[in-house]
Amino acid sequence: MSDLRTKYLGLLLKSPVLASASPLCESVDNIRRLEDQQIGAVVLPSLFEEQLELESLTVDYDLARGAESFPESANFFPDLKTYNLGPDGYLELIRHAKESVDIPIIASLNGISDGGWLQYAKLMEEAGADAIELNIYSITTDPGVTGAEVEQGYIDLVRHLKRSIGIPLAVKLSPFFSAPGNMGVRFDEAHANGIVMFNRFYQPDFDIEQLEVVPSLTLSRPDELLLRLHWTALLYGNVQADLGITGGVHTASDVVKCILAGAKVAFMTSALLRNGVQHAAHVIAEVERWLDEHEYVSVHQMCGSMSRGAVADPTAFERGNYMKVLSSYSLRANIFND
Ligand SMILES: Cc1cc2nc3c(=O)[nH]c(=O)nc-3n(C[C@H](O)[C@H](O)[C@H](O)COP(=O)(O)O)c2cc1C
Repeated sequence: MSDLRTKYLGLLLKSPVLASASPLCESVDNIRRLEDQQIGAVVLPSLFEEQLELESLTVDYDLARGAESFPESANFFPDLKTYNLGPDGYLELIRHAKESVDIPIIASLNGISDGGWLQYAKLMEEAGADAIELNIYSITTDPGVTGAEVEQGYIDLVRHLKRSIGIPLAVKLSPFFSAPGNMGVRFDEAHANGIVMFNRFYQPDFDIEQLEVVPSLTLSRPDELLLRLHWTALLYGNVQADLGITGGVHTASDVVKCILAGAKVAFMTSALLRNGVQHAAHVIAEVERWLDEHEYVSVHQMCGSMSRGAVADPTAFERGNYMKVLSSYSLRANIFND
């Protein structure tokens, strides 16, 4: 039987399939169920910079005004109130989860600016989190801000966070960089222990009857995985940080592809929300079967064996592939027929 264990962020995990941040990991009961399905580790839903800044504002305001409340605060982020457990509940969740399961618990912070809210990471560590995932979800709406400034902000954030914690830190990124390879190297230099590719961005939709811009959340599709495989295969071997893939991992074949590209771990959310958590055990059993059939003794052995540096034709990952793909398309004969 092949060895499914993998080492991610210095943590030895029993399987390379992890549950990424979502409400699925918001209760200890669910985390226990995920552990029963052989999930290697879970990432708790994110706490948001805005939430944490608001919390400290509220405390300051309450201190200044005695015991009176800060009435607006309750309405600033009404949706977040039902999304996660809030800063105190979150620490309690970490503590309780650590007492209840053996798999590592990765706490998640979501934010973009280098500020006081980062102190919360230390509290997560003290509550027992095994690692922290920083989900950097920035939409730069100011046309005066350059890409270089945004990138430097990311790096500063990681450096700051690394200095304030002793546990490993993974960075969950968006795909929107001009040079993701260079960003990977810079995250390495900032001592990030892991790079998770890629965050899904949720663009708002247009309601053309009400003429309103409306939020829209759709679960991922398997074809979203290809972008992640591509960049993982390119980054593998160029960074010391462990690579993880999130986005479009639905089946055992997807997990196998992630590892072949060079990921230490493959995260799932949409597939578990759609199929139920028992899907994880099925996927993991299939991954094991695939390894056995293909005579890999371990996940470690196969990791990166289809990365850019390992394949016979690395141009498959480069510009030449684009030309090949376009020229491979043949128009249907009847395309101009009515
Ligand atoms: C309902 C829902 C809530 C999510 N909440 C978070 C979150 O709090 N923090 C985060 O980093 N990602 C969050 N995500 C993103 C997932 O962790 C994951 O990266 C993304 O869904 C892509 O993976 P998938 O294709 O397996 O769904 C959320 C996704 C969904 C569907």
